[in-house]
Amino acid sequence: MASVPSLASSLDRRIADALSAALPEVGTADPLLRRSDRADFQANGMLALAKKLKGNPRELAAKVVEQLPAGDLIKDVEVSGPGFLNITITDEAIVKTLAERAADDRLGVPFAEHPGTTVIDYAQPNVAKEMHVGHLRNSVIGDAVVRILEFSGEKVVRRHHIGDWGTQFGMLIQYLIEHPHELDHEGEVSGEEAMSSLNRLYKASRTLFDSDEEFKARARRRVVDLQAGDEETLALWQRFVDESKIYFYSVFDKLDVEIRDEDIVGESGYNDMLAETCRLLEESGVAVRSNGALCVFFDDVKGPDGKPSPLIVQKSDGGFGYAATDLSAIRDRVDNLKADTLLYVVDARQSLHFKMVFETARRAGWLTEGVKAVQLGFGTVLGKDGKPFKTREGETVRLVDLLDEAVDRATAVVREKSEKLGLTEEQIIERGAQVGIGAVKYADLSTSVSRDYKFDLDQMVSLNGDTSVYLQYAYARIQSILRKAGEARPVAHPELALAAAERALGMHLDQFGENLAEVTASYEPHKLAGYLYQLASHLTTFYAECPVLKADTPQQVENRLFLCDLTARTLRQGMSLLGIRTPEQL
Ligand code: ARG
Repeated sequence: MASVPSLASSLDRRIADALSAALPEVGTADPLLRRSDRADFQANGMLALAKKLKGNPRELAAKVVEQLPAGDLIKDVEVSGPGFLNITITDEAIVKTLAERAADDRLGVPFAEHPGTTVIDYAQPNVAKEMHVGHLRNSVIGDAVVRILEFSGEKVVRRHHIGDWGTQFGMLIQYLIEHPHELDHEGEVSGEEAMSSLNRLYKASRTLFDSDEEFKARARRRVVDLQAGDEETLALWQRFVDESKIYFYSVFDKLDVEIRDEDIVGESGYNDMLAETCRLLEESGVAVRSNGALCVFFDDVKGPDGKPSPLIVQKSDGGFGYAATDLSAIRDRVDNLKADTLLYVVDARQSLHFKMVFETARRAGWLTEGVKAVQLGFGTVLGKDGKPFKTREGETVRLVDLLDEAVDRATAVVREKSEKLGLTEEQIIERGAQVGIGAVKYADLSTSVSRDYKFDLDQMVSLNGDTSVYLQYAYARIQSILRKAGEARPVAHPELALAAAERALGMHLDQFGENLAEVTASYEPHKLAGYLYQLASHLTTFYAECPVLKADTPQQVENRLFLCDLTARTLRQGMSLLGIRTPEQL
């Protein structure tokens, strides 16, 4: 595995060297290299430098050019405008660099220089509740960020902070005690069945709770038993958790997101720490009692009435809330899991909560300077009307229904093309799922995390435009060309002159590592999606302008196959970092 320097970074080095050779008195200076439409690159560094030295930028640029003889890397360099350099790279350097990438499993992408440990909180549904589009976002974004970070060499610890604790369990457990067979099943249950019995039970117990005072009292006492760790109560609580997990796993499976049991550490997992967390906060004075509740105040956080609105870590009745759990989780993640970065893929509507929780943890000394805490607060999924996505009846949309519909639509598209390809029914079903789920994931990941987006299936499964299907087709089309190539293999020929479309494709391929470095540092999968879409667009232009199998010479056929193959591998790697499959045939 060898990391391959990009053309941009090699060039940057050369110009920086030329700069110091031309102006030994400055030492080092940034050439400020940019991609350019006029040439391949433009270097603007001479402008700033001349200003600093009170010299003439064009003269300075000319001196630098003298130190930059054309050769293996640089084909042409000229001083332009007020004093920047336009630089064209040789075709040979492009193909040579790409050949080095092709020889590496990681396509020449380096590991991060200083990998650390990130604990990421994502895919956190709630026990005994349906999963909705919000859980689509926290699962899909989280999964992509995990893959991207791991690819960079970061150690990643996954935490699924599921909602598995709270007063509602008193009501559910009490109901189950009084109706003991409600969760019994014969044989194995499907995720759907598990959810439907949980739903039934939830509704029935809620109705009873709201209408029957005595049941309400029994349910409240049951909460106390649960919190006291009463064995029978805990065993029943566990049944709800297990039943819900059957459902969660079935949805994650459909979503093609891998979740491991050992990474599910829900709210209940921090129970033993809550009292201590509160005690430490109170003793250190970070939190104070206010009307019996334990509160943390912030100068800049006020309610609508203008009064300070605190973070409540313990309610006046002694109950611990969401904040106490999150604070305890921070202690666990920093002290025990040794995180230096904490990520939270959680709805942007919880931003105030996390702002207050992070600030409290800083004051308490649990989040030290060396530890970064970031909420990747995601936007809302909207319906076609631009309002938060709801069913016609005004209810939240079930995630499974959405996924099923996406897969149905995609399967229809695949089926239509299947005859020509001779796909079996089994293959049609498999590809339909890969295309449908890919479409949903891509639509989500190609919008920046914090933005709202409209859930529009017609657009998502469209073959044209910025969709996963377009990218999957680009990949499959290359595979089909490679299959048809017969004896001809992908082989790089650096001695050949490149057509404009080949150069553009090649230069873009070379930027994969730089794009990933940026995506990794900023946690912005949409920039990777954007890169891949551009890659597929360059490929489309390349096809239109450069015949592959019918190219002029056998060398040119091989070289074009080489470009195709590297494009396919880059697409597959990039898509896989987004959690999206690339079928070999579509
Ligand atoms: N269970 C919550 C929900 O469904 C998300 C939990 C977010 N994570 C956390 N550490 N608070 O909205």
